[in-house]
Amino acid sequence: MIDLINQLGYKIDADKLHQNLIDYDSAAFVLEEDGKLLGCLAYHILPQFHSEEKHMRIVSLIVDQKHRGRGLGKKLLREAERIASEMGCSVIELTSAAHRIPSGAHAFYAGQGYISDGKKVYFRKELDD
Ligand SMILES: CC(C)(COP(=O)(O)OP(=O)(O)OC[C@H]1O[C@@H](n2cnc3c(N)ncnc32)[C@H](O)[C@@H]1OP(=O)(O)O)[C@@H](O)C(=O)NCCC(=O)NCCS
Repeated sequence: MIDLINQLGYKIDADKLHQNLIDYDSAAFVLEEDGKLLGCLAYHILPQFHSEEKHMRIVSLIVDQKHRGRGLGKKLLREAERIASEMGCSVIELTSAAHRIPSGAHAFYAGQGYISDGKKVYFRKELDD
């Protein structure tokens, strides 16, 4: 799992990753073949403060670079959608950095029905230590 997360461009150690699964209302599932980890998807379920809805937020989706283009990303997304429906979520949302456009990540999401229509704008502020 650490190797997949490194491929996504983040660094975390196994203990901290394990702790994150315990500390936050999040879950992850993986795709395995012959004992090898081929991909994973992690999400949070977010109750909405201002409405009765719940959203699923996908926070990580990675397919091992040696196994891309085999339909595995789509399979992981379908499973997330199944879980979201089962948990009564009305929306699945995610952010994907602009630097992922050249690799085709945004085209992948668009092809799976995920839209970025400019109606929601992402704001962020880095906090000092
Ligand atoms: C994005 C990613 C998850 C896609 O997984 P994948 O297993 O390679 O994709 P799939 O084989 O399931 O492809 C599903 C569909 O998306 C399309 N697609 C996949 N990668 C694409 C790309 N780079 N550009 C355009 N379309 C793409 C496929 O053509 C396929 O279309 P189809 O359903 O019409 O046949 C994978 O490339 C990845 O892990 N990338 C690095 C990490 C990353 O960027 N994650 C997203 C972070 S927000």
